[in-house]
Amino acid sequence: MASARDFVLSVMLLAFVTTSIDAIYTEDDFVHCQNTVRKWAASSLDEAKEDKHKLQDLLFFLHVPRTGGRTYFHCFLRKLYASNLECPRSYDKLRFDPSKPNCRLMVTHDDYSMMSKLPKERTSVVTILRNPIDRVFSTYEFSVEVAARFLVHPNLTSATQLTGRIRPRNNGVSTLDIWPWKYLVPWMREDLFTRRDARKHRNLKENKESNDSYDMEEIVMPLHEFINEPVAHDIIHNGATFQVAGLTNNSCLSESHEVRHCVRKYQSLGDYVLDVAKKRLSDMLYVGLTEDHKESATMFANVVGTQVLSQFEALSSISNKADNSKMELSSSFPDSEHDINHLQNSTDDQKESEISSTGSVETRNGTMTVGKLMEDYEVCISSLRKAQARRRTSSLKRISPANFSKDARLQVPEVVLQQIISLNRLDVELYKHAQDIFAQERKHLAEKLVEVKPQEGLKNQFIDSYGPNTWKASLLAIAVLLLIVLKVGIQRAVLSEPDRSRAKVLFLASNLAQKIYSYGPSLLKTELDQF
Ligand SMILES: *[C@@H]1O[C@H](CO)[C@@H](O)[C@H](O)[C@H]1NC(C)=O
Ligand SMILES: *[C@@H]1O[C@H](CO)[C@@H](O)[C@H](O)[C@H]1NC(C)=O
Ligand SMILES: *[C@@H]1O[C@H](CO)[C@@H](O)[C@H](O)[C@H]1NC(C)=O
Ligand SMILES: *[C@@H]1O[C@H](CO)[C@@H](O)[C@H](O)[C@H]1NC(C)=O
Ligand SMILES: *[C@@H]1O[C@H](CO)[C@@H](O)[C@H](O)[C@H]1NC(C)=O
Ligand SMILES: *[C@@H]1O[C@H](CO)[C@@H](O)[C@H](O)[C@H]1NC(C)=O
Repeated sequence: MASARDFVLSVMLLAFVTTSIDAIYTEDDFVHCQNTVRKWAASSLDEAKEDKHKLQDLLFFLHVPRTGGRTYFHCFLRKLYASNLECPRSYDKLRFDPSKPNCRLMVTHDDYSMMSKLPKERTSVVTILRNPIDRVFSTYEFSVEVAARFLVHPNLTSATQLTGRIRPRNNGVSTLDIWPWKYLVPWMREDLFTRRDARKHRNLKENKESNDSYDMEEIVMPLHEFINEPVAHDIIHNGATFQVAGLTNNSCLSESHEVRHCVRKYQSLGDYVLDVAKKRLSDMLYVGLTEDHKESATMFANVVGTQVLSQFEALSSISNKADNSKMELSSSFPDSEHDINHLQNSTDDQKESEISSTGSVETRNGTMTVGKLMEDYEVCISSLRKAQARRRTSSLKRISPANFSKDARLQVPEVVLQQIISLNRLDVELYKHAQDIFAQERKHLAEKLVEVKPQEGLKNQFIDSYGPNTWKASLLAIAVLLLIVLKVGIQRAVLSEPDRSRAKVLFLASNLAQKIYSYGPSLLKTELDQF
């Protein structure tokens, strides 16, 4: 009896000692992590630029995947910047060469740590953020879409061998070389083949699966599995925050990886990262929102576009004899979200290169204005979207009956949405901050456009004598107000309780207001440019 009791006692004692050692150890580890993260945060907050609204020599477009940055690149930036002004191989971290003289534009999925290779004072940063739920959906859908293109092959071996051999034309960069797709696509591809093989072996057993496209495990990895995979934790969740903070697993600073590790281990440390990301966002020249696409684009044209144009005006008046014939015909840029079409007929691709080459020609002969820029943008974006939709449809055919659409999304259970929100806590906060910044930018721009009048003197009196511009300004002000009120309402409605009908009414109303508003600045601006 006694020995048994002794035994139990000593086991308990041992257990106690081990847990306390564990506790001490974890506490130590936490403290160590906290120090690491704090130190990183302190060194990451550099002092603000004296004027963040002024475009510097180099424009760094921090392209968060699946935020629609590609349309800005193709339909604005490529029209503004001739291809010889793009920093070579921007999307390609290994071969990126910031030392190229005169390189003025960099667009990349690489994170903010890239700034360590750039002249900080002479660089302006712009980015676009998106509602985290939509970004996760879109990342899932795009991974599946691109991976499904490989299903033309009889088996995985032949699919991978073929891609290994074929490289994109022009020595360009393929989506498969670009973070994060270089991880997501092959992973998803393997998964699709595995599921297809399993179906074959199951002898066409009639599957009466759910009709929810996001949960058809016979065909494609269900969304709820996808978001819980280690890869998703590594590169998707809170991806925007990590990218702006420079802490993605693709970061080019070695110390980032320890910080990253700590933040993932101790979630409370995420707040340090969030603070850094928020601060950086606030210091950017421009922050767009994917959801407010039309307005974001107009603002981009007015905030960034005008300054790029006047920069070039200044440049060309200095050296008027720039030899345009030497310009490279093809850009080294990848077509990030599209470049896998070496597998298919490449009509879309040809169309795209046409779009981009005409873009550069216009820039070169110096006839571009903001009004023209917006006009071209509309044409460009609609052709881009059509091409995108075509490819998506043809690719998703291969995983039919699964098909991703807005309607299909409505069937995704609320639990899954809630889980996405909680996995992306930092991104949810950062997105709110981006919305605030966007509202400020909107105000700033409206003020600037109204204020242009007295300053512009003669030029504007001329306009005034032709017609009252003031009603436009007040219309603008009303639209802005309306928009702010509605936006807040919608976001509340959508985020807090997905009361769809209410959100829908608000949404429609806001779209209307947005239309009124977004044409405002370009209208005003176009008129100024004509004189
Ligand atoms: C994969 O497909 C190719 C082409 O049809 C075939 O030659 C090869 O034997 C297949 N490999 C496997 C492992 O089935
Ligand atoms: C899928 O099933 C739900 C209910 O089970 C039904 O309301 C919906 O219409 C179906 N959708 C399709 C596309 O069949
Ligand atoms: C980044 O994440 C991917 C996907 O999980 C992983 O395969 C890769 O090794 C990671 N890279 C680094 C540098 O940790
Ligand atoms: C392109 O597609 C068409 C029809 O889908 C086909 O006839 C043609 O051979 C394809 N061309 C190439 C180069 O694959
Ligand atoms: C600029 O290019 C457009 C179209 O290529 C042409 O119509 C226009 O005349 C050119 N303008 C100048 C100033 O060369
Ligand atoms: C998938 O849905 C889109 C519209 O949402 C439709 O155009 C397309 O034909 C559908 N694809 C299949 C294979 O059903």
